[in-house]
Amino acid sequence: MTSHVRGVIARSKGEPVEVTTVLVPDPGPGEALVAVQACGVCHTDLHYREGGIGDDFPYLLGHEAAGVVEAVGDGVTGVAPGDFVILNWRAVCGECRACRRGRPWYCFATHNATQKMTLEDGTVLSPALGIGAFVDKTLVAAGQCTKVDPAVPPEVAGLLGCGVMAGLGAAINTAPVTRGDSVAVIGCGGVGDAAILGARLAGARTIIGVDIDPRKLEWARQFGATHVINSRETDPVERIRELTGGNGADVVIEAIGRPETYLQAFYGRDLAGTVVLVGVPTPDMRLEAPLLDFFGRGGALKSSWYGDCLPERDFPMLTDLYLQGRLPLDKFVSETIALDQVESAFAKMERGEVLRSVVKL
Ligand code: APR
Ligand code: ZN
Ligand code: ZN
Repeated sequence: MTSHVRGVIARSKGEPVEVTTVLVPDPGPGEALVAVQACGVCHTDLHYREGGIGDDFPYLLGHEAAGVVEAVGDGVTGVAPGDFVILNWRAVCGECRACRRGRPWYCFATHNATQKMTLEDGTVLSPALGIGAFVDKTLVAAGQCTKVDPAVPPEVAGLLGCGVMAGLGAAINTAPVTRGDSVAVIGCGGVGDAAILGARLAGARTIIGVDIDPRKLEWARQFGATHVINSRETDPVERIRELTGGNGADVVIEAIGRPETYLQAFYGRDLAGTVVLVGVPTPDMRLEAPLLDFFGRGGALKSSWYGDCLPERDFPMLTDLYLQGRLPLDKFVSETIALDQVESAFAKMERGEVLRSVVKL
């Protein structure tokens, strides 16, 4: 029986989002119906609304969520009704060329639900990142549900589904930071602060947070930055070198996605060090720098998609660390809001007032 529920959609490019009735089919083979309990507001949701990701309007927004499995379709064995799960957008296929090479975090054929959620008039919705979770119930591929300890509050657990995982994973999976490393993180929003947390978890000795907003630098300290740099006032490359014995950091994580800050990351790292780009640039951006520096400075220049995470491996591990008091994920939750407050949460996000607004359902 189709469920009629409330959901937040972006009907057309640039228009404010709206709460409307969404029709969610019962789960078919390989699918799961999930009662969403909490869903974070991510930049990507805003990018969808602004037409920056595609033109498949209307979009059902939200993708950083946790909830309880309500029903599963035929052939589903990994999760069952009643399970507390974090939704992921990397349900690996096991068969594509990346999976076959033993690198499933690069999977090129991740699974989503086959059936479509629609509006009352039958218009098919495009779920954000193949999830769509600003909605009372959503339909996903069963592999998009990762079971975790139900002791974790949903507003905290859901954050691992996107931005926080991206930052943590940039540090612990992509770089990867190891014990004793010096690490600089450029851009201390939710993603950058998660990278700081990841660097601390991995045993980094020096952790430098760089931002242009003093409030963000204060938060970065609370997440574990040992030093902070206001790059509006101080040349970050020079200062990173000063703080690392004149050499530069072993790992620099760029968590903004801009050419000028990428170059700060590039020149702020030690010779043969590692740069990780986790911030997402826009298509118009270009990088200009002497090619010789790319050769001469050696090391590794990496990108991190979704923190190179494997949900089945990483989510339960990270939620357990949270429950043990070793990963203060609640600090990312700036506020909890209702479903009809997503539009105002976008504005707060743009003004830099929040790390995460989380919708509670
Ligand atoms: N120099 C230093 N810091 C900057 C600069 C700059 N030129 N421009 C912006 N910042 C800081 C902002 O002050 C803010 O603290 O970068 C931070 C960006 O954080 P958020 O806007 O909160 O974004 P976040 O959710 O952390 O995502 C960062 O990662 O996943 C991607 O799409 C996401 O590209 C985005 C990036
Ligand atoms: Zn695959
Ligand atoms: Zn996201």
